[in-house]
Amino acid sequence: MITMVKDMQENKKKIVGIKAAEYIKDGMIVGLGTGSTAKYLVERVGELVKDGLKIQAVATSKATEEQARELGIPLLDVNEVEYLDIAIDGVDEIDKDFNATKGGGGALFREKIVASLSKEVIWIMDDSKLVDAIGDFPLPVEILPYGYKVTLKRLKDLGLNPVMRLKNNELYVTDNGNYIADLHMSAPVDVKDIKEKLDNTVGVLETGQFLNMCNRIIVGTDDGVKIFENK
Ligand code: 5RP
Repeated sequence: MITMVKDMQENKKKIVGIKAAEYIKDGMIVGLGTGSTAKYLVERVGELVKDGLKIQAVATSKATEEQARELGIPLLDVNEVEYLDIAIDGVDEIDKDFNATKGGGGALFREKIVASLSKEVIWIMDDSKLVDAIGDFPLPVEILPYGYKVTLKRLKDLGLNPVMRLKNNELYVTDNGNYIADLHMSAPVDVKDIKEKLDNTVGVLETGQFLNMCNRIIVGTDDGVKIFENK
């Protein structure tokens, strides 16, 4: 039973990855997201490139870069581009105003840079990511290792319940060489208030708050793919 539910979840991720790839056209510079849903997108883009699609891509993490390279997708360094035509990525939680939490996979900083450079942003997900109000998924915040204990204390004093992210019992290190504090709150949260607090906290480098930064979302459901435009 559990295996069946997992398979259905995987299938939802796969169909949105495949659907999103339809938006990629010849000549585009494409931002490739990170995570278990974006992985299917990258897989599909690899197939299309093999079949002759002519694109160049910017990866949002070392993991995605590695996957793309193995699949023969031509890669550009982000510093080589002035803009991207399209960026496609996953999310951890999203509300009906298209406010999202991202960074569960730790790639939030690069994901935000890529999204901010992109003319069009598409987020792909299974339907478990759609929520009435964001806040239950711990909000990842990338912080500078230098003085991180002070930053952690400041976040605590703001009532944001930070917990340092660990990997194999060590502090988790991002692709940028920084740490992540996950802020444990509960929905509904006041996203603007949290943004202001984080913007004003020295040591916080970037946050997983992606507020109304996408043009469309593609959602995998029991009834297939659903697309919602952000007008
Ligand atoms: C990585 C991300 C991912 O897009 C997000 O965590 C969703 O991942 P998944 O598709 O595996 O649920 O922000 O930093």
